[in-house]
Amino acid sequence: MSTAYADGPIALRGALVWCEDDPFLSSEEQAFRHEADGLVICRDGKIAAAGSYASLKGELPPDIAVADYRGHLIAPGFIDTHIHFVQTGIMGAHGRQLLDWLERHTFPAEHAFADQTVARTTARVFCDELLRNGTTTALVFCSVHPQSVDALFEEASQRGLLIVAGKVLMDRNAPSALLDTAQTGYDQSKALLNKWHGRGRLRYAVTPRFAGTSTPEQLELAGALWKEHPDAHMQTHIAENEREVAWIREIFPKRRDYFDIYAHFGLTGRRAVLAHGIHLDESELCRCHESGTAIAHCPTSNTFLGSGLFRLRDARDAKRPVEIGLGTDIGAGTSFSLLATMGEAYKVSQLAHAPIDAIEAFYLATLGGARALDLGGRIGSLAPGQDADLVILDPNATPLMAFRTRSVSSVKEMLAVLMTFGDDRAVKATYAAGHLVHERPSSAGG
Ligand code: GUN
Ligand code: ZN
Repeated sequence: MSTAYADGPIALRGALVWCEDDPFLSSEEQAFRHEADGLVICRDGKIAAAGSYASLKGELPPDIAVADYRGHLIAPGFIDTHIHFVQTGIMGAHGRQLLDWLERHTFPAEHAFADQTVARTTARVFCDELLRNGTTTALVFCSVHPQSVDALFEEASQRGLLIVAGKVLMDRNAPSALLDTAQTGYDQSKALLNKWHGRGRLRYAVTPRFAGTSTPEQLELAGALWKEHPDAHMQTHIAENEREVAWIREIFPKRRDYFDIYAHFGLTGRRAVLAHGIHLDESELCRCHESGTAIAHCPTSNTFLGSGLFRLRDARDAKRPVEIGLGTDIGAGTSFSLLATMGEAYKVSQLAHAPIDAIEAFYLATLGGARALDLGGRIGSLAPGQDADLVILDPNATPLMAFRTRSVSSVKEMLAVLMTFGDDRAVKATYAAGHLVHERPSSAGG
């Protein structure tokens, strides 16, 4: 990791791109901003000003060195609304669908996080990988072990990342070494929440894995804990796989449907993020909308596990728009890159016969993700007062990208090319809260 920490104000010049509003619900002109020759001035970890270089150069503090990113796009740092740091080591474990994949690959891998050294080493790799991909905020599942949460938060705080994370709660249907109980899960989560939530940029999420691995007692105590700390977050999985949905219906016969299980235990509402939601029906989507419950759409995971095609445009229907962010869902997901995830969201939306465009994909990876986490007032755009989390994108990162970029005629097309070809090579630099935390060596990438 490169850590060229700068004190005091910083300024960056390049082409600026950001969303001020939701392009699914308003016109592209209203939602999307582009400054071909732009300037961002950051002070005390926040964006002080962003606009055209010509209009803002007079506001530059004397003697400030302007980082020159002309030829690049300067965008808000990417936001990953669903990822498992403890599954970094099982990416690409193929051949199974969800329930078998959990049993065969995921649970065995998560055992190892009882060991503090494994947790620390993996947290280091994980946080560096986020930065190499321009991701400055993530909503993260840890393992059932409290020390896995400590390891992640310690590494994240050293890098200035805004991480929301929690200890997984599981008290049934998993190997016994991975189980807590309703009470120990509550106690451990509460202690972690009190230790980490609001410390620097870190935030806690109450994290029942999914209805299949928690008893009603555990879901009830998870709901009670969240109610005691309503400004914390809640994350779980829902309606990812048809076999899973049928099984959940069997084990919660009294509940109307999958969403109703979480609603019943007080686990829905603003700051709740449900991963996947592929097989939710119209009535469940309505209740997501009404309650402010968000869904993390994880396209690379959904195709890798053969889970199904999320109907993204339907979920965002203006009649009852559900807040949606993008998730990589490592380790079922196949890339840490939100650019690649935008590209796969586009392909899945094509297969569902309702394609999104590049601006909509970009919104989901930035301001849409922030709003899904209920952090839209703080991250996800370049508006003054936002945290200075920035990613610098290089449209000429590889010889093929440079060749393709020569014929691009609009910034929207440039974003489409970046999400089609883009991966960590397209990330020139990453800034977290006004600090340069990753810089791609200039010799790499082509
Ligand atoms: N459902 C419950 N646990 C998991 C998990 O770890 N990954 C995915 N993709 N789905 C889940
Ligand atoms: Zn997941």
